[in-house]
Amino acid sequence: MRVTVIGSGVMGPGIAQTWLTGGHEVALTDTREEALRHGVESIRESLGAMHEKGILEKGPDEFLQLLSTTTSLDRAVEGTSLVVEAVPERPDIKQAVYSDLDRLCPEGTVIVSNTSALPLMDMFPDFRPDRFFICHYFNPPEIIPLVELVKGVRTDPEVVDWLSVQLEGCGKKPVLLKGYKVGFLINRLQVAVLREALYLVQCGIVDPQDIEAAATACIGFRAAWQGFFEHMDYTGLDTVALGCSVILPDLCNDTGVPEIITQKVMEGNLGVKSGRGFFSYGGGEGERLSKRRRDLLLNQLKNWRAEMLSPREG
Ligand SMILES: NC(=O)c1ccc[n+]([C@@H]2O[C@H](COP(=O)([O-])OP(=O)(O)OC[C@H]3O[C@@H](n4cnc5c(N)ncnc54)[C@H](O)[C@@H]3O)[C@@H](O)[C@H]2O)c1
Repeated sequence: MRVTVIGSGVMGPGIAQTWLTGGHEVALTDTREEALRHGVESIRESLGAMHEKGILEKGPDEFLQLLSTTTSLDRAVEGTSLVVEAVPERPDIKQAVYSDLDRLCPEGTVIVSNTSALPLMDMFPDFRPDRFFICHYFNPPEIIPLVELVKGVRTDPEVVDWLSVQLEGCGKKPVLLKGYKVGFLINRLQVAVLREALYLVQCGIVDPQDIEAAATACIGFRAAWQGFFEHMDYTGLDTVALGCSVILPDLCNDTGVPEIITQKVMEGNLGVKSGRGFFSYGGGEGERLSKRRRDLLLNQLKNWRAEMLSPREG
């Protein structure tokens, strides 16, 4: 089928890539030529890295044949079955795009947004109510398998099922939320853990490095292969009950932005993009670590796909 991806910023090119590697024709559109050029380059580089790792059998050129780019939305949506909107998280920009799409796309076109947080189906209730919903990818979207699908009260469930099947065909793992909830699923879980991590650092019980060890050498190490619910079954639910009764009353339940974060933001220490956050990324360190991060994530993707293709017995 033909897929249109609108917006070639941080997320659009990676989203386009997932559809290309799923064997679909993709039209990537942006208002800026420069963004499109940059998007195609990042797709080419990423396809090359996946090919080198043996994740993709074919080289970049074979997939890039399926890609077209244009600054014209009219041309980008010609003959398309699915539109994925990835323009900035600003309601005015999204609204303008939807009003153009409403004019340009036939009734049957499925239109989804990659919004991180906006309750779009409530904000634009008259826009294609049965065929417009949220399809939320995670950065880097060409690697992270999970995609959250968030439907509205009037979304046609058959359309959501159809998109799920299409996403699976692209090697993705869709998870369906039956309604809008602030933060959807992943960001709720992440923020819950981050609040406690920041609290423990604030208390002086551990340093950020210790939290990193806890995440990568224990919780994340195990969670890559065994989810929380199965882990509880292995622990024994009586033991889980005891743990909850002792630990839950002592957990942080603040609802404001944690003080350490406020402080870092005030100092201009925003993370990799400013060269310093909790750790330092100056002198080319950020670039080196970003490459290493992609390499490790690709190894993880390779293992994950191998496991998914040979599900365990029983
Ligand atoms: N950045 C992330 O890690 C991340 C993760 C998940 C979801 N999201 C969501 O994805 C969406 C896109 O985020 P991003 O980080 O890629 O944004 P971005 O600002 O990096 O890119 C947006 C692109 O859209 C283009 N654009 C603006 N108006 C347009 C229009 N009318 N038509 C076509 N293109 C237009 C811009 O030129 C830009 O290249 C947002 O809703 C965001 O919340 C972002």
